[in-house]
Amino acid sequence: MNTSTKNIIVEKAKTSKINEIDFDNLAFGSVFTDHMLVCDYKNGAWETPKIVPYQPITLEPSSKIFHYGQSIFEGMKAYKDENDAIFLFRQLDNHKRLNISARRMAIPELPEEYFMDGLTTLLQMDEAFIPKASGSSLYIRPFIFASGKGFHASPADEYKFIIACAPSGSYFAGKVKVLIEETYSRSANGGVGYAKAGGNYAGQFYPTQLAVQKGYNQVIWTDDTSHEYIEEAGAMNIFIRINDTLLTGPTSDRILDGITRKSILEIAEDLGIKTEVRKISVTEVVAAAKNGTLKEMFGAGTAAVVSPISTFGYRGTDYDLPEVKDNYASKLKNIITDIQYNKSEDKYGWRFKVTD
Ligand code: PLP
Ligand code: COI
Repeated sequence: MNTSTKNIIVEKAKTSKINEIDFDNLAFGSVFTDHMLVCDYKNGAWETPKIVPYQPITLEPSSKIFHYGQSIFEGMKAYKDENDAIFLFRQLDNHKRLNISARRMAIPELPEEYFMDGLTTLLQMDEAFIPKASGSSLYIRPFIFASGKGFHASPADEYKFIIACAPSGSYFAGKVKVLIEETYSRSANGGVGYAKAGGNYAGQFYPTQLAVQKGYNQVIWTDDTSHEYIEEAGAMNIFIRINDTLLTGPTSDRILDGITRKSILEIAEDLGIKTEVRKISVTEVVAAAKNGTLKEMFGAGTAAVVSPISTFGYRGTDYDLPEVKDNYASKLKNIITDIQYNKSEDKYGWRFKVTD
């Protein structure tokens, strides 16, 4: 073991898994890099972070994560340009959101330098795993969970912050078919919907399984009280184009404040696209589908980037979206990915160079 200049303890993997990875056929988040960052919270403080070979972790059966689901995560990507320089995108927003989630789940907040120094050191060590093929990137999963033990239903006294990375291809194989959900809810007023809490995702699996059995890929969540307004999808914020106006719902304590969502809103406004952030009723979207003014629907998120929706289902009827030439989804996706992969100027200051 030796200590890096940033006071991170580094233990290098003895052998690399790089040759086992088929970079031409990458799935999403299913193969992992050689190392991971681990940082323990004990006795009221975060300890020195360690980078160790990627490996299983051992936990007490009474660790509170297993019983009370005290866990949060983030989703980010690292990109490589043609000259092998490595970039992140709006990474400090992910750190801020991790701490917003931490507060809501009574998890101790993580200082920015632990997050950034840990992440940049890890990326430099595992840089060979960052794919260069178009549409591929290194998916980064920072997460914190309650490792402290005890069956008492109260916050744990110990936590683990881990960053694991997975060279990844697209999240969706093609266009997405969604079902507008009216029975189950993802989140509620005063709840934890705005946090990236593990349980928010577990609670979606069963309703999503029911939708998958009916031939859809994803559920579109509506508000929990009236089920009249479109909120977001399982892992994406939702955009709807009616005529030439781009609509998305306002964030609230029920909806995740997506970094892709806010980037798209800013880019769209710069392109002169009329945007409206307001409640969008299902009735309005169905009426627009029927009268031909519904032009596009797409999801937006780090994993999904910009994912066009081909069809939405509502109360037993499927509504197909038209194929629109010069569609907003492609235009916005190209602009955002050109910034991420260092193919264009970044007038917004969103791109962060990790290393040359
Ligand atoms: N909504 C949910 C529920 C998500 O899990 C995600 C993914 O992170 C998003 C929206 C999109 O957020 P972002 O663009 O920050 O990745
Ligand atoms: C992301 O887009 O990074 C997410 O966190 C979505 C994830 C649930 C796959």
